[in-house]
Amino acid sequence: MIKTTSFIRQNFLEFFKEKKHKIYPGSSLVLENDPTLLFVNAGMNQFKNIFLGYQFTKNKRISTIQHCIRTGGKHNDLKNVGYTNRHHTFFEMLGNFSFGSYFKEKSIIYAWELLTSKKWFGIDQDRLSVTIYENDIESFHIWKNIIGLSDNKIIKMKDKKNLLYTSKNFWKMGKYGPCGPCTEIFYNYKEKNKKFLEIWNIVFMQYNALPNKIYKKLKTPSVDTGMGLERIASILQGVKSNYKIDIFKNIIKNIKKLNIIKKNNNQSLRVISDHIRSSSFIIANNILPSNENRGYILRKIIRRAILHGRNIGINKCFFYKLVPILIKFMGSENKILIKNKNKIEKILKIEELKFSETLKKGLKILKNEIINIKNNILDGEIVFYLYDTLGFPIDLTKEFCKEKNIIIDKISLKEKIKKQKENSVNKIKTKINGISLPKIKKNIFVGYKNFKKNSLIKLLYVKKKIVSIIKNKEKGQIIIEKTPFYPESGGQIGDSGVIKSKTGKFIVCNTKKYGKFIIHNGYMDYGYIIKNDLITAKINLKKRKLIEKNHTATHLLNSALKKILGKNVIQKGSLINDKKIRFDFTYFKSLTFKKIYKIEKFVNKVIQKNIKIKYNLKKFKEAKNKKFTFLKNKIYKKIVRTISIKSFSKELCKGTHVKKTGKIFLFKIVNEKSISFGIRRIEALTYKKAFSKIKKQEKDIQKIKKIINSNDCYYIKKIKNILIENKKLFKKNKNINKKYIYLISKKISKKVIKINNNYFLLYQFKNEKKNNLKYIIDELQKKFQSIIIILINFSKKINFLIKISKNLTKIIQAKKLLLFMFKKIKGKGGGNIYISEGILYKSNSIKKEIILFKEFIISKLKKL
Ligand code: SER
Repeated sequence: MIKTTSFIRQNFLEFFKEKKHKIYPGSSLVLENDPTLLFVNAGMNQFKNIFLGYQFTKNKRISTIQHCIRTGGKHNDLKNVGYTNRHHTFFEMLGNFSFGSYFKEKSIIYAWELLTSKKWFGIDQDRLSVTIYENDIESFHIWKNIIGLSDNKIIKMKDKKNLLYTSKNFWKMGKYGPCGPCTEIFYNYKEKNKKFLEIWNIVFMQYNALPNKIYKKLKTPSVDTGMGLERIASILQGVKSNYKIDIFKNIIKNIKKLNIIKKNNNQSLRVISDHIRSSSFIIANNILPSNENRGYILRKIIRRAILHGRNIGINKCFFYKLVPILIKFMGSENKILIKNKNKIEKILKIEELKFSETLKKGLKILKNEIINIKNNILDGEIVFYLYDTLGFPIDLTKEFCKEKNIIIDKISLKEKIKKQKENSVNKIKTKINGISLPKIKKNIFVGYKNFKKNSLIKLLYVKKKIVSIIKNKEKGQIIIEKTPFYPESGGQIGDSGVIKSKTGKFIVCNTKKYGKFIIHNGYMDYGYIIKNDLITAKINLKKRKLIEKNHTATHLLNSALKKILGKNVIQKGSLINDKKIRFDFTYFKSLTFKKIYKIEKFVNKVIQKNIKIKYNLKKFKEAKNKKFTFLKNKIYKKIVRTISIKSFSKELCKGTHVKKTGKIFLFKIVNEKSISFGIRRIEALTYKKAFSKIKKQEKDIQKIKKIINSNDCYYIKKIKNILIENKKLFKKNKNINKKYIYLISKKISKKVIKINNNYFLLYQFKNEKKNNLKYIIDELQKKFQSIIIILINFSKKINFLIKISKNLTKIIQAKKLLLFMFKKIKGKGGGNIYISEGILYKSNSIKKEIILFKEFIISKLKKL
């Protein structure tokens, strides 16, 4: 009997259940509390703190099936995926863990029993060999004397010369963290020539790796084991590649069935079938494609799969179509995919559509280049052009070239990248928005501390031209030597205020940065201003103070979002003015009332603590290491300004802020919505505006109470009761109406006339409800099989309804009858063969016309 992956998962857990292990679910792929990890890469990750002794567990024996991603950090297999039989970006790790319960002997005995016992996996013992850490005498002894392996089947793996714990058999989770010697079990699937496949790694967690090569002994030595499901399945199913086990075989078979493939390339099929697994699971774990961190890795995987799709001739959007196939074949591990199916499909589709155009252009250029290539070396300049101009990722060009055995000229590529960096630094823009910038020293911002400053006019513009004077009432721009005006940046709007000289007053409406210059936009209120004038520049301080409250609150909001919604939340834009805060961020669903409450609570708590804001200048690298938040897409200078509000918020920022958080007084979110896929927007108020908003809500409640005549705190209950009562009345009304319809139909059915074998009714109402006409017709139709009904209702308008029984429509249709009627009586309307409706225009002769029309139909019916 073939052992399916579902069976193997189950069998593994059953074995360890029998050995008194508690079965735990695998963790999410993203561990929020471990910033050292991009994605979970081993079963032991979720237990890191237990291994280190920071966390207690009452279960000392645990077993799990853990989803793992190995595409970044210490364990990165992305480049190999597709080109080998064994590598995956996503795989399942079967693991058993002991936290001070058993150690080396039992863990080895368990592994051996599960692998070789006929009751369990039943692998031939002769096919297995092991490796151990060279100085691990205890493991050697167990393998040799307890298990009974011969010496030549126990291979000792040494450290690199003079470098402690560098052996392959010394396992580390990352640079730092729990680690220890390990023993690995290998399967030899070629009897004669020997070809070994590692199947199980048993790690003896004994140390905590700290910086400076310090290895601290752990108090409780523990065991962490991991066996890749796909590998063991390949052995138990007797196939030589992971990609031939049931899951992959089925996925690949079904990709082919989609009938979109023109070229059968195994590498590409492997890449696609692997990547649909990793990308779907990553999205299911709430990561969206983006240009940073986990989102970037996700994007890279999706794009790589799409590239390989194009490679085998798929020219339309296909990747998302594989999601249902994946769900079908992932067995019991598919629950999270089912739950997130729509989201995964939608994201994959959007991502592929977005990327398709770039890919099309890039591939065309690449293919043309390759026709003329010399020595199979692709010029770095082309790679750079594709990247710089088209946004075609360098990684993908590399991938494309790898496929075709072409090498990229790395030297010319590096040179191009270096040159471009230099250019962008040296490039000084001389004209921005039509304004020519002078070759003078840049002006200086002094507005962190000064709100009023005596300074000197350096340059004046009117209608974007440099001038020597701005005259009365003229609009213009001013550059002064030192300015207290903050120029719009980092979401904070620019200051407004006045620039006064002895001869005039210039109103500054806003301040912006043009290249290196701070420029004040505005108009002459009175008098004039001349170049080199001495002036006093004074900002609108009241407005600035309001902006500052909003800016500091924005930092706190940013921290709150990360704290409450998770570290993946990334700022996508902000607007901070004197009226409100607008903050855009990545998140995939709307925030619940509870979440919003928690965010507000966090921000207001920090406000109440009245914490002093601290500013510092730091090296960018240092700030980054110290975990200050910054925008990933922005280029920062070497020295940056950091703003900290104790540990509550740490950000790089040039903006202006309150001195102490208490100044913000109050923070209130007033709106939360989606602005595009995966991006949400919060709008919030601070200080008096926040208070007014709350007061306004209170006032609204008062109004509601007054309307429903309830002064007490039971008004919600009263509203509920009103709604219940309303529902009841509605139901009652409906029943009464039903009765009414029945009675009125009965009454007017007496007016139905029989002509030959058919029936006919034209009935005129006065002020009947429009909807009732339909119900009445339905009721009448129940009684007469073969009938033409025309109901006309004289109310504000004259509306009518025509209905014809199905069998009669062969002879006359409702829509035709309506058109016919309009020839006799003016009106408008439409319909189909069974029913038509509309209005008739009022006229003095309408009653007469209706009678004539009625007679006409009767005469027609008589002729049938
Ligand atoms: N943590 C070890 C590994 O990943 C054993 O699970 O290989």
